[in-house]
Amino acid sequence: MPGDPLRAKWIAETFLTDAKCYSTVRNMFGFTGTYNGVPVSVQGSGMGMPSASIYAHELINEYQASTLIRVGTCGALTADLNLRDVIAASGSSTDSNMNRFRFDGLIDYAPVADFGLLRTAVEKAEQKGIEMTVGPILAADAFYTERPDLYDRLADYGVLAVEMESAALYTIAARYKAKALTLLTVSDNLKTGEQSSAQERQETFAQMVEVALDTAIV
Ligand code: ADE
Repeated sequence: MPGDPLRAKWIAETFLTDAKCYSTVRNMFGFTGTYNGVPVSVQGSGMGMPSASIYAHELINEYQASTLIRVGTCGALTADLNLRDVIAASGSSTDSNMNRFRFDGLIDYAPVADFGLLRTAVEKAEQKGIEMTVGPILAADAFYTERPDLYDRLADYGVLAVEMESAALYTIAARYKAKALTLLTVSDNLKTGEQSSAQERQETFAQMVEVALDTAIV
């Protein structure tokens, strides 16, 4: 599940065999094909948790998907993460209100990755010689934050990076007994202000997608 529907198309065309487009609704493309002989779908999620939640919910409940892997980009919260580094999100804090609403504001639910998927992704990355950092991230509602001080505080607690979908993905997968994982490449660093070029993003993205697909078919 990439955020960008054109990335979904690119993944289907680049990595899947006999890929067929099954949905163009709102231009949020979804494709099904095979990867090493195993049926796999790639579905755009859109940006942010309200959008990603709809696709995660429907993939599980309407299409019987049992494994959801997000592939995306993130902003690093610490200077020691480099552009193009690959991160596997073991857990996801969030400033979204969706889970507060879900638990009447009484529980701070902790959305986490499926451990089996996480372990497989680490193994697959190792086999490919791809260094992968495993740790917690933040799923934020706003791309342009007004509170960089809170991001610094999260970094003090070991939070590696920020993106905008993982907490909802993990929560919905847990709720409907599916497995979920988020793999990310660092596209920008909020501490240093560095940003990767489109070309750089594409190269690392491809490696990460291969790890995601290798993980999905185990
Ligand atoms: N995805 C990539 N970079 C991001 C950032 N800086 N904030 C939120 N999501 C992102």
